[in-house]
Amino acid sequence: MLVTEAVRSRTSVRQFLEAPIPDDVMREIFNAAQMSPSNCNTQPWKTYVVSGEKKKALSAHLLEAVMSGNPPNPDFDWTVDYKGEHRDRQIGAAFSLYNTLGIDREDRQARGVTMLRNWEFFGAPHAVFFTMEKYLGIMGAVDLGIYAQTLALILRENGMGCCFQGALGQYPDPVREVLGLSDDQGVLFGMSIGYPDLNAKINAARTDRENVETAVNFVS
Ligand SMILES: Cc1cc2nc3c(=O)[nH]c(=O)nc-3n(C[C@H](O)[C@H](O)[C@H](O)COP(=O)(O)O)c2cc1C
Repeated sequence: MLVTEAVRSRTSVRQFLEAPIPDDVMREIFNAAQMSPSNCNTQPWKTYVVSGEKKKALSAHLLEAVMSGNPPNPDFDWTVDYKGEHRDRQIGAAFSLYNTLGIDREDRQARGVTMLRNWEFFGAPHAVFFTMEKYLGIMGAVDLGIYAQTLALILRENGMGCCFQGALGQYPDPVREVLGLSDDQGVLFGMSIGYPDLNAKINAARTDRENVETAVNFVS
């Protein structure tokens, strides 16, 4: 598969088959992603791929935290109130998801249930957590984002899929506890990975993109 094909055909996967990614394939994918660029080659990512019983335990702890009613306490500042065209696109993406599932946008309960699937890793056999030392701030976040997209494209190339999840960075305490992270290690975000369930309605959700003429200024 050409890189452009992988870029054009990647979409968020939010329902997975149970089958795990074989160990050797998993190592190969993460090995290839190590070639991602980073500022001054600092390679700030410390990645955790969580599977099996640990994944189940982590999901249970996360759901408990989410449903406790306590507000999210992310390690990094995720509190953006989107405005204008950004808000419009945020609403558009949510609308596409709920529309695909046949959920009315006023049906808060059904939307809440769908939201909770984030912390069940959408049924994926593996959950990835992207962590980095907290002091790195925005520079580290840039590098981790590039690394995660590299990973997403390699997964796509190999017939697998993923969903990037800011939601997995909202309650870092259970993650820190289950994975034994030190206090200076922050959880930026996460990703569910595995083989897409091609029959699942939710995986048919599509988002649109701005015209290149609007998004890119070609200046000469
Ligand atoms: C940094 C980041 C965080 C995201 N967080 C979530 C999330 O918590 N839950 C979710 O279902 N999707 C999440 N997404 C997926 C976006 O909603 C999705 O990429 C966007 O709507 C475009 O759709 P597409 O991935 O199908 O092209 C996230 C994507 C990124 C890049």
